[in-house]
Amino acid sequence: MTALSSGSSRPLRGRCRVPGDKSISHRALIFGALAIGRTRIRNLLEGDDVLRTAAALRALGARIERGRDGTWTVHGVGTGGLVEPMEILDLGNSGTGARLLMGAVATHPFATFFTGDDSLRRRPMARVIEPLTRTGARFVARDGGRLPLAVVGTTSPMPIAYTLPVPSAQVKSAVLLAGLNTPGETIVIEPIATRDHTENMLRYFGATIDVTMVDDGGKRITLVGQPELKPADLTVPGDPSSAAFPVVAALIRPGSAITIEGVGINPLRTGLYQTLAEMGARVTFAKERTAGGERVADIKVKAGELRGVEVPATRAPSMIDEYPVLAVAAAFATGRTVMRGLGELRVKESDRLAAIADGLRKCGVTAAIEGDTLTVDGKGVPPKGGAVVAARLDHRIAMAFLVLGSAARKPVRIDDGETIATSFPGFIRLMNRLGARIAKAKR
Ligand code: S3P
Repeated sequence: MTALSSGSSRPLRGRCRVPGDKSISHRALIFGALAIGRTRIRNLLEGDDVLRTAAALRALGARIERGRDGTWTVHGVGTGGLVEPMEILDLGNSGTGARLLMGAVATHPFATFFTGDDSLRRRPMARVIEPLTRTGARFVARDGGRLPLAVVGTTSPMPIAYTLPVPSAQVKSAVLLAGLNTPGETIVIEPIATRDHTENMLRYFGATIDVTMVDDGGKRITLVGQPELKPADLTVPGDPSSAAFPVVAALIRPGSAITIEGVGINPLRTGLYQTLAEMGARVTFAKERTAGGERVADIKVKAGELRGVEVPATRAPSMIDEYPVLAVAAAFATGRTVMRGLGELRVKESDRLAAIADGLRKCGVTAAIEGDTLTVDGKGVPPKGGAVVAARLDHRIAMAFLVLGSAARKPVRIDDGETIATSFPGFIRLMNRLGARIAKAKR
């Protein structure tokens, strides 16, 4: 356990880059492993979550190396070419790694055993077990569909058409990954659109995938099975979910002005930025461009007053990981912020709804949960702070409360900052270089 404290920061100033996108990094490694030949990946997120996926793919037969210049090379085994791992795959803290790989191995004819840390072993896997069972795979899991679990992959995979019962890019991706080694067409229907990095990358690696719009903003995705995936070169954009922390820190510390370069701005990931704009924040995208099939921009932020807003439930999938830090912004705003449709936050790395509300209250902020709605009352002045907040093995809870501490009246401590390295290695250094004061807490 490493306790951290965050005291009143100087105005944040300067330019920085955040590490590569976590979702895209996992997928780049997985699709690289399923292509035939050599894939090169620049700016891969070297956080624990992604390194666990790399280790798991090695155990499944792919050769993966990191060059001295930081470029990663994946020697893929081809669709259907994974081999039975000798060891239990331990995905650490990573729901994405676990769920996507469960999809990939479900249609390979061997047994794979999965486990993870205390947080991941509490998270629901039934949401992927259910559709993957329909392809012919079998599962033996703990009560409630929890890890550790075993997947017995099918020798004769069946293509399925599956409508997502919860808006989840991880479930969508697990089904599509199973569909890769399945003859015929695998279809996923998502009533509410979720991040589409899997679809973008499948196309980029040469698969035949068709996406049509259905009803109000939903999608029907059709993947033609057993393609020969071609290796690709790609550069992973900066992670908009990581950029969110310095962005909010700059907004709430008067006098701040920062630029974060090369951040992914896929519209299915930028709900936070839309919400901050509605709150009156001075956040703009500059130098918009396309790289590796994804939109990228430099994000410019200037501190300023924020006002409370209503965030509709329909926006949740495009900012699902950003509610902890949005709630911090709301605590500094004037007026009430109402965030609806947050049921999925209960099954993230921690119960984030409870973690956010408890942490805010400890810091002197009025916060309430009613059903799936979180309400935060901001007074337009910095909250008291001065509390120790439990990070609950959740990197985003840890970073959000360090951001709160950087502009609160008294320093904020978190009990454990070790999970920050799952998604944002170098977070403390980057923040402090901009002007924050985050340090190991003295006992
Ligand atoms: C992710 C999807 C989201 C998100 C997670 C990463 C992905 O989860 O919370 O951090 O890479 O597909 P769900 O798809 O379960 O909502």
